[in-house]
Amino acid sequence: MRPRFAGGAVDLRPEEIVRLEGERVVLLDQRRLPDEEVEVECRSAEEVAEAIRTMVVRGAPAIGVAAAYGYALAAANGADLDEAAEVLVSARPTAVNLPWAVAQMRQADGDLAERARDIHRAEVERCRRMGEHAAELLREGSTPLTHCNAGGLATGGYGSALGAVKAGFERGLVEHVFVDETRPLLQGGRLTAWELERAGIPASVIADSAAGSLMARGEITHVLTGADRIARNGDTANKIGTYALAVLASHHDIPFYVVAPTSTLDPDAATGADIPIEERDPAEVSERFDARNPAFDVTPATLIAAIVTEQGVHRAPYEESLP
Ligand code: MRU
Repeated sequence: MRPRFAGGAVDLRPEEIVRLEGERVVLLDQRRLPDEEVEVECRSAEEVAEAIRTMVVRGAPAIGVAAAYGYALAAANGADLDEAAEVLVSARPTAVNLPWAVAQMRQADGDLAERARDIHRAEVERCRRMGEHAAELLREGSTPLTHCNAGGLATGGYGSALGAVKAGFERGLVEHVFVDETRPLLQGGRLTAWELERAGIPASVIADSAAGSLMARGEITHVLTGADRIARNGDTANKIGTYALAVLASHHDIPFYVVAPTSTLDPDAATGADIPIEERDPAEVSERFDARNPAFDVTPATLIAAIVTEQGVHRAPYEESLP
């Protein structure tokens, strides 16, 4: 059944975002949204890895799902599975969902295409449950700010932080959403705005630098973001700019919530210092001048009011509440 929102708006179906179809992994090309809805087909693990690297598909759980399908494709093609795993895992360094999903596939037996679909279905189900838990943190008239795209496009369906917004809207709690544009690749201004429009949820895109001023004027009630990797102590890596938002939220006494599935927890990272941060091509920031392009930052756990997973709402100390 296709998920519907109040007012009849229709949510993206998981298989519109990423699917395994015969001998191809089919991806909605997120680089071309919102102007064009175009699909990209991958016929090998290498092609899936390239699609992840170039951000045809992006967002932590979604790249894990795409990699699981890529691994199943490699198995069906009789490719070297050690090499396939290596090429998929090394496509992007920060989101732990990528090595997590490939490890799940390596341990799986039976029909690998079905196992990859199980991973996909489970991620979407986690999003639904996170949305229910996170909606309990909202109140009537909420006007949350979200950063990057933590919607269905980023998770393979429904969304993590944006799933919380969708669940809150369904319950009549979310009045309006502020969407950080998210320089330099505009995941907020292109992808989140597009998803919210499709869901019929009122939203305004803002320049990233406008967040502090809107907070000072009392227009933002909550900050909701996703995560790419969460360390054992709750330190959280997410899209560059998230840390600055958490500092601003703390200054203005606004709750800052991270909404992420347990597949984003990294038991091998003790703190944020153990999380690898991707540096992307500086040309994404400036083609004319020397530039730096760290794609993620780490928000210390001390700035996070709660981390919401499919298991519930976790509060500090996270070493105790996350396991
Ligand atoms: O570089 P991207 O677009 O892959 O970065 C994605 C994010 O930072 C998201 O906020 C994160 O993956 C959480 S998505 C559920």
